[in-house]
Amino acid sequence: TTVTTQLMLAVGTAVIGSLQFGYNTGVINAPQTIIESFYNETWFNRYSEYIPASSLTTLWALSVAIFSVGGIFGSFSVGLFVNRLGRRNSMLIVNVLAFIAATLMGFSKLAASWEMLIIGRLVVGVYSGLSTGFVPMYIGEIAPTSLRGALGTLHQLGIVIGILMAQVFGIDNIMGTPSMWPFLLGFIFIPALIQCTLLPFCPESPRFLLINQNEENKAKSVLKKLRGTDDVSADIQEMKEESRQMMREKKVTILELFRSPLYRQPLLIAVMLQLSQQLSGINAVFYYSTSIFKKAGVTQPVYATIGAGVVNTLFTVVSLFVVERAGRRSLHLLGLLGMAVSAFCMTVSMALTVSVSYISIMAIFIFVAFFEIGPGPIPWFIVAELFSQGPRPSAIAVAGFSNWTANFIIGMGFQYVEQLTGPYVFIIFTILLLMFLVFTYFKVPETKGRTFDEISAGFRSAREKYSPDQLNVLGADSQL
Ligand code: GLC
Repeated sequence: TTVTTQLMLAVGTAVIGSLQFGYNTGVINAPQTIIESFYNETWFNRYSEYIPASSLTTLWALSVAIFSVGGIFGSFSVGLFVNRLGRRNSMLIVNVLAFIAATLMGFSKLAASWEMLIIGRLVVGVYSGLSTGFVPMYIGEIAPTSLRGALGTLHQLGIVIGILMAQVFGIDNIMGTPSMWPFLLGFIFIPALIQCTLLPFCPESPRFLLINQNEENKAKSVLKKLRGTDDVSADIQEMKEESRQMMREKKVTILELFRSPLYRQPLLIAVMLQLSQQLSGINAVFYYSTSIFKKAGVTQPVYATIGAGVVNTLFTVVSLFVVERAGRRSLHLLGLLGMAVSAFCMTVSMALTVSVSYISIMAIFIFVAFFEIGPGPIPWFIVAELFSQGPRPSAIAVAGFSNWTANFIIGMGFQYVEQLTGPYVFIIFTILLLMFLVFTYFKVPETKGRTFDEISAGFRSAREKYSPDQLNVLGADSQL
């Protein structure tokens, strides 16, 4: 399979949305104290007294976590956009949210208003939640089967580069200063502008054109450009097969998704994989690494955090190159196992009061590396693979909702649980990781190299094997 410029342009432009998500995940870590003193000053100017410590903690927690609240709403709303506007135009239009958020956060200091900053975080959270649905869906639908995993991993690569950029921009000789932090937060204006300029040159998803809109000629001409060949009959054939199977791939609502026994298995897998990604504890590292390192006695915790960002990026690249060979299932298993082992080592090193700082750094780096081998990238793109055109948007919405909710719980809860358990907090993640390992081993099928149609046919035949009474349902379907 050839990778055409048209395909790279489309994927590269889409993952600017992923970059924005990653950037806003990482951006509030370094400048915490600087922005807190802005809150303090503003409070003083309004009420002629300094902000009480507890109010400051609450305001800061809100500023951090409201991003995932936005993400919960955004990811759940994906279906409202993609079937009406198409995949590409949905990505284009939601940039309005990025511009609004950039303006609110960028001018919050000038306006002496922490409210603007917090609302800006909420708005960019909604944008990010939508992006985590749009981007994997679009990439999954335009990618040739043999590259779907590799290109799907570019969504995660966009995220991790975004995190790393934010970490680097946030150090104090770049934009992590009392005068520059509004630019640090407002920076998202620039990627939004670039994405808006490039998206009009990207094609609409040919699957959307053919299956949802019945525009065969348009679908063909898009495919010819994406594939760089005039013979796209195999692709078209496969899409037609997919739509024939599912009664013209009628749109499936979220409610129908939960009701139909046909989708029970893939839905369970999709949700569990999202939970395995978030409840692995990865964002305990990305939100709180600086304080974890500080407690372990690391002298330059901010640089250790950036080190984690670098490891994070490098191993996403590793995954990108091996995912089409090793497969999703084995990489996810390997990643979870490696994370469980390093989480255990982290606990041991934290529990020994003579904590050796470089051991904790190593343990966290290995934890992050294994995360990016599988549990980072795979859950994001596998949902598009597990479902065919009709139920895909609803499935992505439910999966995204689960991911963001778990993200919120870790972001809000980690510090409290840590206060209760002390150094044993990572034991909880070890146990969860082992549970997800067992689930993945028994339930998750390999999707590498199979067309969307073959994958959903696999779930159908598995059902036939296990519950013959459901054959009636299938019989009724195929008569339509
Ligand atoms: C995944 C997660 C995200 C996390 C990131 C770390 O994309 O969804 O929450 O921050 O990986 O690389």
